[in-house]
Amino acid sequence: MAKKVFITGANKGIGKQIARQMGRNGWTVLVGARNEDRGLAAVHELSEEDIKAEYLNIDLQDSKTILAVVHTIESRYTDLSMLINNAAIPGDMHKPGHEFTTDELRKVMETNFFGPFELTRRLLPTLEANNGRIVNVTIPIGTLPFFNPFAYKTSKAAFNVMAQSFAQNFTEKNKALEIFSIMPGATTTDLNGNITGEYVKTAEESGRLITGIILDGKNHNGELMNTNGAIVDYNHGLF
Ligand SMILES: NC(=O)c1ccc[n+]([C@@H]2O[C@H](COP(=O)([O-])OP(=O)(O)OC[C@H]3O[C@@H](n4cnc5c(N)ncnc54)[C@H](OP(=O)(O)O)[C@@H]3O)[C@@H](O)[C@H]2O)c1
Repeated sequence: MAKKVFITGANKGIGKQIARQMGRNGWTVLVGARNEDRGLAAVHELSEEDIKAEYLNIDLQDSKTILAVVHTIESRYTDLSMLINNAAIPGDMHKPGHEFTTDELRKVMETNFFGPFELTRRLLPTLEANNGRIVNVTIPIGTLPFFNPFAYKTSKAAFNVMAQSFAQNFTEKNKALEIFSIMPGATTTDLNGNITGEYVKTAEESGRLITGIILDGKNHNGELMNTNGAIVDYNHGLF
C-alpha cells in the first residue's frame, strides 16, 4: 500500500502533529489548510525533519477549493490511501444555542460537516482504488454540564453520524474502504484559546496517540475511540 495521506488542518495544532508522526512512520503528507503561509511553514518544518510533505490549499467553506484539491489528487496523487478529516472550527463555544444566527451556525456546519462530507465523498473512488482509510478527528456530542458549545456539537454530531453511516454501507457493500473516528480529548491548541490543565494534553501527545491508533494494524471500521483506543458510544457524554 502506498503510504500517502491527506490531512486537513495540518498546518498547526493536532493536525500538524499527526502529520509529523505519520511522516516519521514513512508516510508522505499532503498538508491541507486555508492559511497558505502557515501551510507552507508547516511543510518547511516537516521537510527539515526529512518528512516528505506538500501543501494543498483547501477552504472547507468553499466548494471550489474542495473540487480543486480533489482534481489535484486525482491527477498527481492517484496512490492516496488515507484521508484524515481533522480541520474544524468551534464557533462561539459560550453563546447559548438559541442566540446563534443561522449564518453563524451555517459557517461551522460548512467547515465541520458539509466540507468534510464533500471532500470525503469525492475522494472515495481514489481511496477505494488503494484500499483506503478515512479518519475523522472529533468530539463527544452527549450532554455534559461543563461542555455545551452549540454549533461545534451540532456539526460534529452530523460528522459522527457520517462516519458510522458510511462505515455500515462500506461493510454491506464489501467496499475496500474503512472509516472511523478518534476523539483526542482536551488538548492545548488555538481552537480552545490554548487552555492548559491536569487533564489537558499537548498537541504533540494527541498527535502521537492518534497516530498510534491509526497505525496499529487493526481494522477500525465504524468505531469511535478515545485516544487510549477504548471504543465509546458516539453519543456518550464522556471524553
Ligand atoms: N483542541 C482540543 O481540545 C480538541 C479536542 C477534541 C477534538 N479536537 C478536534 O481536533 C481537530 C483539530 O483541532 P485543533 O485543536 O488542532 O485546532 P486548531 O489548532 O485551531 O487547528 C484547526 C485547523 O483547522 C484548519 N481550518 C479551520 N477552518 C478551516 C477551513 N475552513 N478550511 C480548511 N481548514 C480549516 C486550520 O487551518 P487554517 O490555519 O487555515 O485556519 C487549522 O489547521 C478538530 O477537528 C477539533 O474538533 C480538538
